[in-house]
Amino acid sequence: MKPKRVLVAYGSRAGATAGIAEEIGQTLRDDGFDAVVLPADTVTDVSAYDGVVLGGALCAGHWTGKTRRCARRNAEQLRHRPLRLFSSGPVDTSVYEHDIPPVRGVARRMRKLGAREHTTFGGAATADTSEPVARHMINRGKCGDFRNPERIRAWAHHIGTELGATP
Ligand SMILES: Cc1cc2nc3c(=O)[nH]c(=O)nc-3n(C[C@H](O)[C@H](O)[C@H](O)COP(=O)(O)O)c2cc1C
Repeated sequence: MKPKRVLVAYGSRAGATAGIAEEIGQTLRDDGFDAVVLPADTVTDVSAYDGVVLGGALCAGHWTGKTRRCARRNAEQLRHRPLRLFSSGPVDTSVYEHDIPPVRGVARRMRKLGAREHTTFGGAATADTSEPVARHMINRGKCGDFRNPERIRAWAHHIGTELGATP
């Protein structure tokens, strides 16, 4: 029997969210899924997938435009398949202390698309980034990698369990 196909689409400015998406994709593959990881701006058709995970970097209280446009462009198809959302994320320890709810725009999109869940992962802004806005933040002292691979993998395993590795 063919493994279920899952798309993990992400919008990233400086690479941290791409890393989270890759971790989710790899975990799903380890769990027996045919998981594909793609930048959100390249996604024009999700009809081939049995489930979708869509994530975006947060910037000034919003998902990055690449993720928002992907959600809009594919809304009709996304509404008809199991959808999970994630955001990345605070460059501090807040995600380890309590659950961080989706920002307002993401919560609205979640309702519109009938997404099953959302989670916020810690983000990263590392000194080696060349992305100008991230550099500005780092220069003001907000720096570090607050992604937690264990938490990311645990969430991906949970999605896998809910989707069922085989039909
Ligand atoms: C200009 C700027 C604005 C940001 N705004 C937010 C924000 O509103 N909320 C938040 O949790 N993180 C915010 N962050 C942190 C980023 O979301 C975090 O660094 C994220 O992991 C970046 O992902 P990326 O490397 O995929 O672009 C901001 C970062 C920058 C550079």
